[in-house]
Amino acid sequence: MKNFWKNKKVLITGHTGFKGSWMTLILSKFGARIYGYALNPISKPNFFDGLKLSSFLKKDIRNDILNLNKLTKSINKIKPEVIFHMAAQSSVLESYKDPLGTTKANIIGTANILEAIRSCKSVKAVLIVTTDKVYLNLEKRKKFKEGDHLGGYDIYSGSKASCEVITHSFIKSFYRNSNCKIATVRSGNCIGGGDWTKDRIVKDCAESFIFNKKIFIRSPEASRPWQHVIEPIFGYLKLAQKLYKNKSFVGAWNFGPNIKNNMRVIDVARFGKKYLNSKSKIEFISKRQYESEHLSLDSSKVTKLLKWKTHLKSKEALALSFDWYKFFYKNKNKKKLIELSFKQINNYQKKYFI
Ligand SMILES: NC(=O)c1ccc[n+]([C@@H]2O[C@H](COP(=O)([O-])OP(=O)(O)OC[C@H]3O[C@@H](n4cnc5c(N)ncnc54)[C@H](O)[C@@H]3O)[C@@H](O)[C@H]2O)c1
Repeated sequence: MKNFWKNKKVLITGHTGFKGSWMTLILSKFGARIYGYALNPISKPNFFDGLKLSSFLKKDIRNDILNLNKLTKSINKIKPEVIFHMAAQSSVLESYKDPLGTTKANIIGTANILEAIRSCKSVKAVLIVTTDKVYLNLEKRKKFKEGDHLGGYDIYSGSKASCEVITHSFIKSFYRNSNCKIATVRSGNCIGGGDWTKDRIVKDCAESFIFNKKIFIRSPEASRPWQHVIEPIFGYLKLAQKLYKNKSFVGAWNFGPNIKNNMRVIDVARFGKKYLNSKSKIEFISKRQYESEHLSLDSSKVTKLLKWKTHLKSKEALALSFDWYKFFYKNKNKKKLIELSFKQINNYQKKYFI
């Protein structure tokens, strides 16, 4: 893996976000030449600016993916070989507040990327990051496979399902005989240090428990496949590497955790409280909007063809996340936090021979 990424020109859209920040650190470790295109981080504090991750980039472009002209010019100037498209409005709850903004950023934004790279011949592999929420979920506790019906009750899920459809239309219309190979990737809910998106349960638990404040949780019985962010990111790198040379990897890929990793929201909160040795009270609030109760992916395709699987158990992934937030809030030395992030990445890599 290391040899492949050394000096590769890689563009990450959404590099200032949670996943983009971890992707930046991991790719920098492998010696890639990294370029970023995104808006400013959505939260304060945030992983990217807080830890000055722009020092890991060749260029840190802050602009809107809806600006097709600027996007096309940037891509043609950078001439990336690999693109990870992660820029998006990433929150379900925010999509209820801003349905049109979410629709534009996620659907038109993705179409813009696919249009912009048509004129750039250097691009060999593109991963469009969608989500496990793209499936039509009738709450029948089904494990979704890549070929299952797409759907989306809320606008975020619908917009991401639309990204899948539009990506596959672009592939069929313009990329069938091209050297540029495109895949969509669907991971579960990711956790890990550095996610300050509103209403993320792990971040909310960490902040409440570290400061012994009361926590209010919604959907306590909802069960989710918790997955540490570095796991799908290593999977995306593996897929991009294959895709770079081989057309047979074009298509959709689930990157879900083992179903045994599903854990109820209430159990996540209880685990966090114990792990952080907190006196906080856990209280429940009623759900404001619809969110799916059960969601599981069937990742047998990626396990068979890419030999990728989730290694960390839910509680291990949660422990890594809580360690990170605790370090952030208790230790002002941000250089040391970068060291901790690299340590978490290195330990994972060593332990699982990645
Ligand atoms: N975090 C998760 O649990 C999770 C799970 C599954 C899929 N995803 C998907 O992974 C991707 C990254 O998620 P994240 O958690 O890092 O999100 P995030 O909200 O932390 O980051 C989003 C990034 O997109 C950028 N962005 C948003 N709108 C933009 C626009 N119009 N133009 C340019 N940049 C824009 C932001 O500046 C930021 O860099 C998203 O596509 C998200 O839907 C996330």
